[in-house]
Amino acid sequence: MENIHPIFDRILDRSQKERLLKQRAAVIWMVGLSGSGKSTIAQALEKRLHQDGCLTQLLDGDNLRSGLNSNLGFSEEDRRENLRRSAETAKLFLNCGIITICSFISPTAEVRERAKSIIGEADFLEVHVKCSFDACAKRDVKGLYAKALRGEIKNFTGLDAPFEEPQNPWLQLNSEEESEEACVELLYTKLIQRVKTQQD
Ligand code: ADX
Repeated sequence: MENIHPIFDRILDRSQKERLLKQRAAVIWMVGLSGSGKSTIAQALEKRLHQDGCLTQLLDGDNLRSGLNSNLGFSEEDRRENLRRSAETAKLFLNCGIITICSFISPTAEVRERAKSIIGEADFLEVHVKCSFDACAKRDVKGLYAKALRGEIKNFTGLDAPFEEPQNPWLQLNSEEESEEACVELLYTKLIQRVKTQQD
């Protein structure tokens, strides 16, 4: 940090931007296995909020890994860095007053704690998209489970890399038993009360 002089105190602050946008910003941090439905639910939630006049930003593991995080793989260390950068990115949007929806496996309590501390506890809404390994493997939308089970992908989450379920999330969605629409509805209903401020 030597020779670095941040100017955080001289930039317009978040509340001024939130007033402009007539919304309260938050980070919705979706956690779950690959194929559990995080991204699908996140996309539907974003559309719904947009229709309500909210300004949103979606940050998705697969997308960020093709740009900002393209030099990272799936070792413990790389996942940690992936999530650190992603949380820092989410914080930039948050401080711009934007409702930021993040979809990353975020496999361990440690990486989630780190993301929470970067973003700030008050604005970090952890959503666990709960779906068992077997159900994800059965759906296997991207064909990755078949490959991993054949030994063609190593460090695969839930197989030879850990996945620790969140213990006390802001919300848990059971995407194994509930429909996508039902999960989106639950999340939207809980969130909208928090993010929407006055209308004109
Ligand atoms: S995280 O663990 O660092 O949070 P992230 O959400 O960015 O993961 O990326 C997960 C996506 O990468 C999966 O949805 C899947 O498409 C792809 N992927 C490729 N290799 C792996 C792997 N070894 N384990 C899990 N996901 C993988």
